[in-house]
Amino acid sequence: MKLQSFTVLLAITAANATKINPLHIKRQATASSSVSTATSATVATSSVSSSSGTSAISSSTTGISTGITTAAASATWGTSYPPLSQISSGMPSEVTQAVTTTYTAGASPTYYSGADPLPTPFVFNAADWPAQDKLPDTSSSEVQEWMEELDGWDIPDLSPTVDGTCVSDPANVANASARGWWTCGGYTRDTDITVCPGKPMTWGTSHCTVLFFQPTYPSSATKLLHFLNEQNIKATFFDVGSRCIENPNVLIDEYMSGHEIAVHTWSHPHLTTLTTEQIVAELGWTRKAIKTILGVTPTTMRPPYGDIDDRVRAISLAMGMVPIIWTRTPSGVSFDTFDWEIPGGVVTSEASFSQFEGILGNASTLEDGFIVLEHDLYEQTVDMAIGYTLPAALNHNPPFTLEPIGQCNGIPYTNMYVESNLNTSFPIANGTSDGGIDTDGDGTGDAKSKNSTSSASTSSNGGSTQHTSLSIFAMPLLATLAALVVAL
Ligand SMILES: *[C@@H]1O[C@H](CO)[C@@H](O)[C@H](O)[C@H]1NC(C)=O
Ligand SMILES: *[C@@H]1O[C@H](CO)[C@@H](O)[C@H](O)[C@H]1NC(C)=O
Ligand SMILES: *[C@@H]1O[C@H](CO)[C@@H](O)[C@H](O)[C@H]1NC(C)=O
Ligand SMILES: *[C@@H]1O[C@H](CO)[C@@H](O)[C@H](O)[C@H]1NC(C)=O
Ligand SMILES: *[C@@H]1O[C@H](CO)[C@@H](O)[C@H](O)[C@H]1NC(C)=O
Repeated sequence: MKLQSFTVLLAITAANATKINPLHIKRQATASSSVSTATSATVATSSVSSSSGTSAISSSTTGISTGITTAAASATWGTSYPPLSQISSGMPSEVTQAVTTTYTAGASPTYYSGADPLPTPFVFNAADWPAQDKLPDTSSSEVQEWMEELDGWDIPDLSPTVDGTCVSDPANVANASARGWWTCGGYTRDTDITVCPGKPMTWGTSHCTVLFFQPTYPSSATKLLHFLNEQNIKATFFDVGSRCIENPNVLIDEYMSGHEIAVHTWSHPHLTTLTTEQIVAELGWTRKAIKTILGVTPTTMRPPYGDIDDRVRAISLAMGMVPIIWTRTPSGVSFDTFDWEIPGGVVTSEASFSQFEGILGNASTLEDGFIVLEHDLYEQTVDMAIGYTLPAALNHNPPFTLEPIGQCNGIPYTNMYVESNLNTSFPIANGTSDGGIDTDGDGTGDAKSKNSTSSASTSSNGGSTQHTSLSIFAMPLLATLAALVVAL
């Protein structure tokens, strides 16, 4: 299966080669004359066009630049946003909008081969699922069955952290390096995806979808989708299971529009605080929700708040999901926009955007591409994305390339889902012996796949182990936030 690439480069035209101040970009008014889209000459997007039915996705394979006429001319809902200073906790709500396209059962994504058709339309029956935003019951037959996926794996015997934050937990902070705890020190393992290896100036674009049901559903998530689809930008969506089942059309729209779908837990907890059964339940129910709605089972996941350690890693890999976090530079700059702190008034939109400009500055110096934490959780976070952060990256000189995270890691769409995965060593090699993948970073493999038989195989997804100590606390913004209990 040849990787289909949907790289979209938005470049400054020769006539307007100076860097555009992103603060002053107004797509409807001026951006169309100063920004052009150039679809990379190597890409073929026609199949996406036919599958999604959205007119915004062009079928150009020529590499000839075209203006963003769709967005500029029609001034569609997906392209309007307030001035930066008005993106704040008290901003008025917009009317809700439908998904970009609705799809019927039996429709198949055509942008990758081997995809099963969409199942029978999902009917939400509360009795079939754990409660929204609550830790699922671990005594259910489902969770007991999923626990068997851990058989044969050496899950590190680490006690749960106190509350997933550093301030409450000096003992585990002291052991953060040994337990590979990302939250306190940014410790990663080679099995984590944290960058786009060897792809400088490439943004592995993603959004955490924590859909609000009422009263704002589905405005923020669908507004972002309208924008991305109109601009032919593909992203990775990390979806929260208990919200997916109540808003299945948004998940379907994300998937059918050519975005990558990954697991983001059932109730968005700090995973390191949970028991092993609870972690299995959080991942398992979300995987089941996505499978039930889309017919596919993701092979990747993101831990909420980036809160992962070697126990969470091993459980996730044993269940067939590779963790994806966001980039942290060797000097400890975490690529978190703090957009999720704007609605609560903790962070101003100006501070969040300034943080993002620092991220782009840092990203420009990296030899790898990068991943940023952003959300479609609230209107504020979506307005930041469509009005400011995404245009800033697209208008940057030189411009950034935006790709979904799997794609920028060389993982084709097929392998993002169990049903169409063609790679026998992703997420982990079958029959790995000799200890298998080194999830605890001690130099020897310890996470085994089931029924170990054949030769050893270790896997690296390009994430680098970053023993950055606690230098993250040097960041002024984080220092003020460190003591706050996150309330997403
Ligand atoms: C520290 O981490 C190591 C490696 O995971 C683990 O074996 C050990 O039990 C931990 N120590 C404490 C006190 O938690
Ligand atoms: C990297 O990020 C830090 C923290 O936001 C910022 O102070 C610094 O200026 C950035 N570096 C560049 C080259 O933009
Ligand atoms: C791993 O082995 C099992 C049992 O043989 C098989 O069903 C499964 O498809 C294999 N997985 C991969 C990724 O090859
Ligand atoms: C399969 O996955 C492994 C682990 O991510 C990767 O190293 C390898 O390049 C992949 N192979 C193919 C053919 O994509
Ligand atoms: C793994 O081994 C167990 C016990 O021998 C067996 O019951 C099971 O079918 C095997 N699984 C696979 C995928 O081969």
